Amino acid sequence: MTDLTTKYLGLVLKNPIIVGSCGLTGSAKTVRELAEAQVGAVVLKSLYEEQIEAELKHNMNEYQTDYPDAYDYIKQYTRDSAVSEYLEMIGEVKKSTDIPVIASLNCVSSAEWTAFAKRIEKAGADALEINISLLPSDPRKSCHDYEKIYFDVLDKVTDGLSIPVSLKMSSYSSSLANLVSRLCWTGKVNGFVLFNRYYRPDIDINRMELTSAGVFSDPVEISTPLRWIALLSGMVDCDLAGSTGVHDSEGAIKMLLAGASAVQVVSALYKGGARHATEIIAGIRTWMEKNSFSSLDEFRGRLSYKLGDDQSAFERIQFMKHYAGIS
Ligand SMILES: Cc1cc2nc3c(=O)[nH]c(=O)nc-3n(C[C@H](O)[C@H](O)[C@H](O)COP(=O)(O)O)c2cc1C
Repeated sequence: MTDLTTKYLGLVLKNPIIVGSCGLTGSAKTVRELAEAQVGAVVLKSLYEEQIEAELKHNMNEYQTDYPDAYDYIKQYTRDSAVSEYLEMIGEVKKSTDIPVIASLNCVSSAEWTAFAKRIEKAGADALEINISLLPSDPRKSCHDYEKIYFDVLDKVTDGLSIPVSLKMSSYSSSLANLVSRLCWTGKVNGFVLFNRYYRPDIDINRMELTSAGVFSDPVEISTPLRWIALLSGMVDCDLAGSTGVHDSEGAIKMLLAGASAVQVVSALYKGGARHATEIIAGIRTWMEKNSFSSLDEFRGRLSYKLGDDQSAFERIQFMKHYAGIS
């Protein structure tokens, strides 16, 4: 028997394939299809801080001048309705599937998330993924200022929360190993998702305009999360989920060999549909059988920085060796 079960954030997943947060996990119907495709878990589409703020501003513009007395009421109502829709979706998803459901908050500040997180837990989410979307582009802010946001959000969101929490990290962090270790030591986070993939700008040279680069990832993008999963697994006492650039079973197996507890997939499922998740899972099973592995623990982390034979593969020295013969 080939056992694909894995533990992630204290949850038992029947296999390591998690559908990452995106439009495909934005309704009970689509999540049901993904569950039927046998995925291990889903991260629901995020509730965005800006979404709530935008709704708020819209409503406030309409009501602020005409009905000043209604200001506080509308403000509260708008927040509640954005959150209520999200909570209803969690309830529906939980009713119609039996796979672990991870809710997602996309924050850029630490304001007001404590109450929302508790309501998400009450609605039945099995865990909460927090996506702190930071681009450290302000020259007046130090890395300490940016890192503090992670700790502040974590403090707020986990205050009184019982479900496990993961942080979806940005790769734009100055001392990632140090930051992840210190976040882990707070004891408030159970896992890290490496990494979030941001909107990517491009430039159209004919129209001389800023445009958007592809929304979907390319398989070559796996190398950045793969490096960091390999470096951090065995170093931090938290689960790691590989995310960005996993398009097939080979990519998923690489993440597991690097030390991931689970693997998130998004772009590949937009392209190949829910059925592609089934294929990825089947591909992992076939590879395990071929290599006589009966469980993920038999090979997980085998090529991580800690357990691998060639630690220099993750370090600068290897660049020198690699490029030495190229003139
Ligand atoms: C259409 C689309 C919608 C997304 N929506 C969210 C979201 O709501 N919250 C979030 O944290 N990430 C979101 N993401 C990012 C994905 O969860 C994931 O981190 C990213 O696509 C990289 O994984 P991939 O290479 O498997 O696509 C979205 C991605 C796509 C393509």
